[in-house]
Amino acid sequence: MGGLKGRDLLSLADLSTDEMKDLLDLAAQLKAGKIRPRAEVDGHVPVLGLLFYKASTRTRVSFSTAMYHLGGQVLDLPLHATQVSRGEPIADTARVLDRYLDVLAIRTFDQQDLKVFAEYAQIPVINALTDLEHPCQILADLQTIQETFGGLSGLTLTYLGDGNNVAHSLLLGCALVGMNVRIAAPEGFQCDSAIVEQAREIANGNSDILLTSDPIEATTGTHVLYTDVWASMGQEDLAESRIPVFQPYQINDDLLSHADKDAIVLHCLPAHRGEEITNEVMEGSHSKVWDQAENRMHAQKALLASLLGAV
Ligand code: CP
Ligand code: NVA
Repeated sequence: MGGLKGRDLLSLADLSTDEMKDLLDLAAQLKAGKIRPRAEVDGHVPVLGLLFYKASTRTRVSFSTAMYHLGGQVLDLPLHATQVSRGEPIADTARVLDRYLDVLAIRTFDQQDLKVFAEYAQIPVINALTDLEHPCQILADLQTIQETFGGLSGLTLTYLGDGNNVAHSLLLGCALVGMNVRIAAPEGFQCDSAIVEQAREIANGNSDILLTSDPIEATTGTHVLYTDVWASMGQEDLAESRIPVFQPYQINDDLLSHADKDAIVLHCLPAHRGEEITNEVMEGSHSKVWDQAENRMHAQKALLASLLGAV
């Protein structure tokens, strides 16, 4: 593959279809143990910084483990431990971290802050979740779908819930690989129209994009049912008031009965059982959530290896 050496991944729209396919193939090879790349930058062991303004289990640990497997090192930089928390400008922090690190993954709120980091740091900057997108999650999701169905193009994915970061990256990722995508969200919680437009441009008529408030319409015959929490990080105060609004979008056995008989169920996790998904579905035979979580590590190892020029 050509590789993504030196690039940033702020949005899935930063990737071409071929680059996405190459990353997914690489992730599958890494998972199967067919290749074991070692990363090196200018003769030294590369260092990944994790600058996280929000909590994380999967992203933090899967990135760290992936980097260790590549022979690299990891520096965990929770916001409170840095001068960013005391108001040091992002542009200054970015220029300094650039001098020490080889790659930087950032989890923050505003996509614009991520863009400032990327503008001022020359090293690869990775979006480890913002309020707008969660591209690394969708790399693992597509890997999970591909390994289940043996391909991606022509399949249909249905996302039920809040039309924010995960839904946005699913729109872009599915469009890139030729999957149909349906988003079922309550009125007022649909996806950002600019992202929908971007996804339609990427799909270029090769796959369908449906936005609806009807969960059954969105689920009928689908191959992948996907959900996320109803109140994201930073929205904890809204959680109670959202429950009745989002209740019709819960993935339960009744809704699942409208999907294809071989449909799989995905959740980026953490899950709130009894809210966006029932315990029965989470633990049931259609659920692939643990493989999906495992694939975070393989997919991000592929991404890191590519950004660091190790493949
Ligand atoms: N899915 C996901 O990004 O999980 P964490 O918030 O635990 O990293
Ligand atoms: N939408 C969720 C995703 C968590 C991985 C959030 O932003 O909190």
